[in-house]
Amino acid sequence: MIGSARFRTHACADVVDARDERVRVSGWVHRRRDHGGGVFIDLRDRSGLLQLVFHPDGEFADAHAAAGSLSPEDVICVEGQVVERSAATVNPALATGTVELRADRLEVLAEADPLPFSVEDESQEASEELRLTHRYLDIRRAKRLGALELRARVVRAMRRVLDDEGFLDVETPVLTRSSPEGARDFLVPSRMQQGSFYALPQSPQLFKQILMVGGIERYYQVVRCFRDEDLRADRQPEFTQLDIEASFVEPADIQDLVEAILRASFAEAGQTLPERFPAITYADAMRRFGTDRPDLRFGMEIQDWTTQASSSGFGVFEGAIGAGGVVRGLVVPQAGAAVSRKVGDELMAEARELGAKGLVWAAVEADGSLRSPVAKFLGSLAADFSAEPGDLIAMVADAEPVAQSVLGTLRTRFAERNGLIPEGVWAPVWVVDFPLVEWNDDEGRWEALHHPFTSPRSEDLARLEDDPAGVLSLAYDIVLNGLEIGGGSIRIHDRDVQRRVFSLIGLSDEEAEGKFGFLLEALKLGAPPHGGIALGLDRLVMLLAGERSIRDVIAFPKTATGADPLSGAPSPVDDAQLRDLGIAVRTPPAPANG
Ligand code: AMO
Ligand code: AMP
Repeated sequence: MIGSARFRTHACADVVDARDERVRVSGWVHRRRDHGGGVFIDLRDRSGLLQLVFHPDGEFADAHAAAGSLSPEDVICVEGQVVERSAATVNPALATGTVELRADRLEVLAEADPLPFSVEDESQEASEELRLTHRYLDIRRAKRLGALELRARVVRAMRRVLDDEGFLDVETPVLTRSSPEGARDFLVPSRMQQGSFYALPQSPQLFKQILMVGGIERYYQVVRCFRDEDLRADRQPEFTQLDIEASFVEPADIQDLVEAILRASFAEAGQTLPERFPAITYADAMRRFGTDRPDLRFGMEIQDWTTQASSSGFGVFEGAIGAGGVVRGLVVPQAGAAVSRKVGDELMAEARELGAKGLVWAAVEADGSLRSPVAKFLGSLAADFSAEPGDLIAMVADAEPVAQSVLGTLRTRFAERNGLIPEGVWAPVWVVDFPLVEWNDDEGRWEALHHPFTSPRSEDLARLEDDPAGVLSLAYDIVLNGLEIGGGSIRIHDRDVQRRVFSLIGLSDEEAEGKFGFLLEALKLGAPPHGGIALGLDRLVMLLAGERSIRDVIAFPKTATGADPLSGAPSPVDDAQLRDLGIAVRTPPAPANG
């Protein structure tokens, strides 16, 4: 153990193996109980808890007196004899519960003021703002510490797999040019070239490709990426990727490697992943689950009722179909009885918030008939959807993308609310055969579904210009329990194809040259076929730790407004600093009247 014997001979957890020895330990006062017979303290260090006993008599009296005035989270150094506990006092809840330290010397190394929230009582809820302001106290809690320990073990396991496969850990710059992952950049002003800015990397995408041109062949990096996006539970402005790139590979090579990495990572948490991960095409995922991140832990697939609805006599359905739309729905097992008119109205309102024009619900009664405000139009719906008595059916009529996305969201919400997601199940899936581009209606142009360096399938190259929507790419996403934990692709290594893709997404030769000229130049000078992937480390560890937010597995996360309450970042800077950079801050415009 690292640490001077001046402070400790043992970590708390190791004292259990030092029965009858004299030891010295240091740590935090976790909990104190005073009994007639003595003062009992649970001492905590990173390894765990150890019970200290301070007896009031004889040689123990001084230490006992001092122990009586200790406060929670004081830092102390204690010496004494390790003794076996009597059978009656063994504490099975504690790893060191069979022994205790009979303390005869106590030194207070640091005192703690009254705490803003309890470290010891993790059930005591503190606001996130307060916990982040005093993150060091939060990190002392077993749950937070456990997540950080797990994260470190996962990274070690990942590195082990990659090192064994001959991958080289190479660092790429943090002060760089704008990189193309589609989010807003964080900018850093240059002092020496005033008016110019570095961008923090959204990912090392271009550099890792250039490393392939540099002959590195197998690269990885555990790397911080920066994206100025709206934050959510699974998004932070700075987050960590396990970034990978390799030369002379096909998609299956990267996928096999990632499966090995994930298996090794999960083993660190005592978890087992399926032997082979299934794959689903983007088109199937969208059709069956309404999303390209399908949660395969449960069924409840989206079903089509357009044909039947077109002669249902129900104006809403027939109108939507007449306008080129579809009627789709899904079955929620055994959720029908709970849906009253009022609950049904709430479901409708929820569907509207998600962008639907409405929602038709129907509960299947014991005799197979339907209970629904519009039951008379629904005919053979229950049989068509293979719904059982007790089930709920939810239907949306709209343009296909709207109907699918609303039902996709409702599918997960219904499953969560009704306890239909099995516990302890891991359902990884590769999503493949993505379209290369999609139409951006707002900007009136094609836009890359992943990033513009993703290779089209060679068999689709001929129709790149004439039928862009029909071109599939060599991209693959890895999705686990409904969360996208990684994405990658085979890249374009042919400069002409790269130019054609740039031109398809509306980048003129000059713009392409200006933004990515260094990559195009590299592609002219002997670029090997290559491909790779990036895994979202924070999301992966969040799933493994059973947490619901990536903030819980990041030592110093930002709040939803991008602030760090601990350090107070972001903060205004001195005028002098701004002058050095040649920057003036415009006062925010006053809100417009009315
Ligand atoms: P992509 O943009 O899909 O791909 O990112 C890879 C993975 O990173 C995670 N991720 C995030 N995690 C937390 N907070 C965020 N704001 C955030 N954004 C992304 C996700 C995602 O799957 N250069 C490509 C990879 C490649 O093509 O090799 C890239 O960055 O889990
Ligand atoms: P309305 O004619 O708007 O009163 O709607 C009649 C019923 O159809 C209500 O239950 C609505 O929620 C539902 N509804 C309306 N539009 C749609 C739609 N596009 N898809 C599914 N249900 C709808």
